[in-house]
Amino acid sequence: MSFIDINNIWKQFETAVVLERVSAKVDAGEFITIVGTSGCGKTTFLKMLLGTEFPSRGSITMNGIPIPPEPGADRGVVFQKYSVFPHLTALQNLILAREFERAPLLGKLFGSARREAGEQAQAMLALVGLENAGDRYPQQLSGGMQQRLAIAQALMKQPKVLLLDEPFGALDPGIRADMHQLILSIWQKTQVNIFMITHDLKEGFYLGTRLWVFDKVRHDPQAPDAYGATITYDIPLGHTDRATYKAINQSLQHKDAIVTRTSA
Ligand SMILES: Nc1ncnc2c1ncn2[C@@H]1O[C@H](COP(=O)(O)OP(=O)(O)OP(=O)(O)O)[C@@H](O)[C@H]1O
Ligand SMILES: [Mg+2]
Repeated sequence: MSFIDINNIWKQFETAVVLERVSAKVDAGEFITIVGTSGCGKTTFLKMLLGTEFPSRGSITMNGIPIPPEPGADRGVVFQKYSVFPHLTALQNLILAREFERAPLLGKLFGSARREAGEQAQAMLALVGLENAGDRYPQQLSGGMQQRLAIAQALMKQPKVLLLDEPFGALDPGIRADMHQLILSIWQKTQVNIFMITHDLKEGFYLGTRLWVFDKVRHDPQAPDAYGATITYDIPLGHTDRATYKAINQSLQHKDAIVTRTSA
């Protein structure tokens, strides 16, 4: 049994098939980067791992158990657009993540539990390089700092899986390079499983241990929604040759989907 088993999933919204015949096995600790043309179903796939969307057919299991139909502490998520509470400081936002975990409505922590959550939040701020920004409100943080906070928030519950949906897509290239080092160091320190969607193929190759390309293999020009995308490339990284890189880049670039800043 693999850590995560994706068993022939299909996803359909009304009559539109978005994903079809997606199967894969994922071991603990893998860092999977995901690329594909816009609208091919990458975010939908990530949401199925999160538990906010469900396969129309097939199943996804973690440690042999189907992903529950709601987000859980074992899965953290960071979207491109950052998602913390504007009226709380960075530190308070992180403590709140723990309170929600205990009880979504009445979760306020008191006494030693609150102190412990505060210490954990401070440690998490340090992990993402925000140790001096705990008292700042989100609007007082730069875009890169806001994404660091969103990553810290996703890690507060010590998830086994970290889901990243183009988390650096809105950041400047220089800041992105810093974020790459950050995410690699987090992955090494925590051994969390990462699934990361990116529009930057180069980023996908640089960060991941394994790259998935989502694409349609069947097309009907009369009925563009009749068929969904599947995993067309599933390649271990670190041993990728130039020809494979070029083939993937071409298969994506003719649809104008991937931004590659430099060639391999
Ligand atoms: N809740 C929904 N109801 C109906 N259709 C949806 C829903 N969510 C997504 N879709 C459709 O499913 C398809 C895939 O969307 P998705 O957001 O997964 O694509 P994506 O690969 O993440 O695209 P992008 O790269 O632009 O972010 C799109 O055609 C989208 O309109
Ligand atoms: Mg998306």
